[in-house]
Amino acid sequence: MERTAIYGDFLPLLEQIKDTFAQRIEDYTAEEYQKTGIRIYEHLIARVKSEESMTEKCSRKGLPPTPHSALKELRDSIGIRIICSFLDDIHTNIEKIRAFPDCRVVEEKDYIRHAKPNGYRSYHMILEYTAPFADEDGNLPGTFFIEIQLRTIAMDSWAALEHKLKYKKHIQNQELIVAELKRCADELASCDLSMSTIRDLIEHSE
Ligand code: GTP
Ligand code: MG
Repeated sequence: MERTAIYGDFLPLLEQIKDTFAQRIEDYTAEEYQKTGIRIYEHLIARVKSEESMTEKCSRKGLPPTPHSALKELRDSIGIRIICSFLDDIHTNIEKIRAFPDCRVVEEKDYIRHAKPNGYRSYHMILEYTAPFADEDGNLPGTFFIEIQLRTIAMDSWAALEHKLKYKKHIQNQELIVAELKRCADELASCDLSMSTIRDLIEHSE
């Protein structure tokens, strides 16, 4: 079996847990579609953080690059991003996720209500999943963390662009760019609200 410095023997299990949760999300979405005709997510990205990023993150946080740091100290080795067409859909997803059996929501950050100063918006949840497998501490059942980010398409396109620019060092007009990005984020947020209103109008005019 593939053994890595940062994840030890856990990589296949992390991949499996990631797939299980992506499938759970797809299942409740299909069920909701049957009931309402609305697909409550548009697309989804699920990943196990690459070895390289996890090692870099450990060093940034002053943690030794070990499976214990990656799986027990840090909580985003498994990440799922749910991208929704409409704001309301985010809240429907949050309710479904909160109702997952064998999971406890250990952190929620609402960067939609409270956008970051740079304009970043998303809803973040960290789940602690009690699994029928031994974890890094040797507990059985074991516990594993999963980070879920929920965003609209507009929030996601903004975050993708901002992420690209963040890694361009020595950029000129830094202040202007930061201010323009913030303005764009706010305009997109206002568009998301308008789109929700339009959806409501269409639904109520049927
Ligand atoms: P971490 O130790 O990195 O988890 O710090 P944190 O817990 O303070 O981070 P937070 O939960 O706020 O955000 C974690 C993830 O959200 C990041 O890895 C990004 O994917 C995303 N994120 C947060 N802030 C920004 C931002 O300003 N821009 C973009 N593009 N993504 C962000
Ligand atoms: Mg975090």
